[in-house]
Amino acid sequence: MCGIVGYVGPRNATEVVVGGLQRLEYRGYDSAGIAIYDGEAGLQLRRSVGKLINLVNRLNREPAAGAVGIGHTRWATHGGVTEENAHPHRDASGKIVVIQNGIVENYLELKGRLIELGYTFHSQTDTEVIAHLVGHYYTEEGALEPALCRAMAELRGGNAVVALCVDEPDTILAARLGNAGGVVLGLGEGEHFVASDIPAILDYTRDLIFLEDRELARINRNGIVITTLAGAPVRREPVRIQWDPVAAAKGDHKHFMQKEIFEQPRALMDVLRGRIDQEAGTIHLEDLKLDDAALRGIERIYATACGTAWHAALVTKFIIESLARVRVEVDYASEFRYRGPILGNDALLLAISQSGETVDTLAAMEEARSQGVPSVAIVNAIGSQAARLADGGPIYLHAGPEIGVASTKAFTSMIVAGYLFALRLAQARGTLSPAEIRTHIQALLELPGKAAEVIETTSSQCEILAERYHRATDALYLGRQVNYPIALEGALKLKEISYIHAEGYPAGEMKHGPIALIDENLPVICIAPRDSIYDKMISNIEQVKARHGQVIAIGSAGDDFLASKADDTIFIPETLPLLQPVLVSIPLQIFAYHVALLRGCDVDQPRNLAKSVTVE
Ligand code: M6R
Repeated sequence: MCGIVGYVGPRNATEVVVGGLQRLEYRGYDSAGIAIYDGEAGLQLRRSVGKLINLVNRLNREPAAGAVGIGHTRWATHGGVTEENAHPHRDASGKIVVIQNGIVENYLELKGRLIELGYTFHSQTDTEVIAHLVGHYYTEEGALEPALCRAMAELRGGNAVVALCVDEPDTILAARLGNAGGVVLGLGEGEHFVASDIPAILDYTRDLIFLEDRELARINRNGIVITTLAGAPVRREPVRIQWDPVAAAKGDHKHFMQKEIFEQPRALMDVLRGRIDQEAGTIHLEDLKLDDAALRGIERIYATACGTAWHAALVTKFIIESLARVRVEVDYASEFRYRGPILGNDALLLAISQSGETVDTLAAMEEARSQGVPSVAIVNAIGSQAARLADGGPIYLHAGPEIGVASTKAFTSMIVAGYLFALRLAQARGTLSPAEIRTHIQALLELPGKAAEVIETTSSQCEILAERYHRATDALYLGRQVNYPIALEGALKLKEISYIHAEGYPAGEMKHGPIALIDENLPVICIAPRDSIYDKMISNIEQVKARHGQVIAIGSAGDDFLASKADDTIFIPETLPLLQPVLVSIPLQIFAYHVALLRGCDVDQPRNLAKSVTVE
């Protein structure tokens, strides 16, 4: 959720920290703040409400410089969007500053205790509780590290905390509790970094160490020392990240979302790269730790995820059940662990997540682990918590950083990664013949080219449709079978970036309620490629037209019959039915993007949202 950056080294920490926050702003943009230390100027705190640009403007008026600094971009949890609630927060002495990503679940209890001890609070945040608690123990311990460890021991919930103290100004401390906040440590030459996400420090280093639950890192110019919060030494080798920093920048595109939509042909190639042996007609998933025997032993898969990734899980259910003949149940991760799931020892958990940091998804993985059920994670962020928690191995998307809050390229890559997994299962279980597997492989290999064709042929039409419908107050998306989740996803894309109320529905269910919404003002987006339930979709379109709804159909290239039934038709190339969702998604993304633009919305940073949801 919130973004955290810290720096110690010879550069001006303000530039490194603010630059890092710019890369992390997708994690939260309610307010931003930095604390920079310099021997002469002392501790310089600057905080601003709203987007990071407000902080940058403030820094132009009131510059800050120094060799050590921490910064934070906030997604509000406790307390409104005000400067007092912006991080960093100070302890009572003003010597210690703290930033946090996560939630202190017992903050009211701790706050009450601290108030009784005479501490005064200036904000409504749970983070100020941490600042005072650390300050309180600092007066007893005389050193930041034991003070932070004692404070962390009293917190409940999941947090990443970064602290700086003017009495130990060459060092930043970072501590982590639970799953709610990732902490990445960056290794440089005579300089070191800490951040909540890789893109923040990618300009400076690709050698990274991930801090685990209940660990603490002491970061200074000379190095990074990791211990557990109990003080035991931790040895962990850095990993080298191959991401290109340019991939995390907007380039010539107006928005990250636009760039990421256009990147889909490349992303679809990358998710396939190295995983298909065309000659042998086989699939190889390099990080999968489950061998053929283990794959044959799976009787049931629980696919779990949130938001767009949950839609990918719904699509993946169709794919796995059809190709590998394994039963798949799909759960919202936020519901999964609280429903007391009975998993069984022949089950597999399939977690799907772009960030690999979504706290509910991680909790679902923990639940599986606690029942002795292995998990596999379809995940984009390399080295993320989901990737590390997946004892059955990660299946990386290799889609590169996705910065736009609305997920696009990660979604279509998730479907393809799920497809590869389904084929790998089918290969082990013998549910498809070698010839059938080759047919699927061929279709997968043709998919990136078809995605490029969709972008090429539908972009301007989507722009025209957006012009026509951007004043709508509601929209209905209808699809059936494997395209029903795409109706959900199309509606989610529209509502999250344009703030138009949109609903996705299985088309056959429309007559059981939503049909009452239809009038001449309602755009109804009907996904109707030629497939086994095409005729049913045509009937549903007729039902919408009979009530004067405005039908935008998405169908197979050359389907004039469909075009004669709809007000507008977007054509996509033919592919295998289970791969249609990938191609259908693209015009829906482009349409939502243009509608949002025309409504003057902030496409990359829609209100109230954040890219990585690390709180419950
Ligand atoms: O990082 P994850 O894939 O786990 O994120 C899950 C959802 O928070 C995410 O897909 C969200 O729904 C996006 N805003 C959708 O565009």
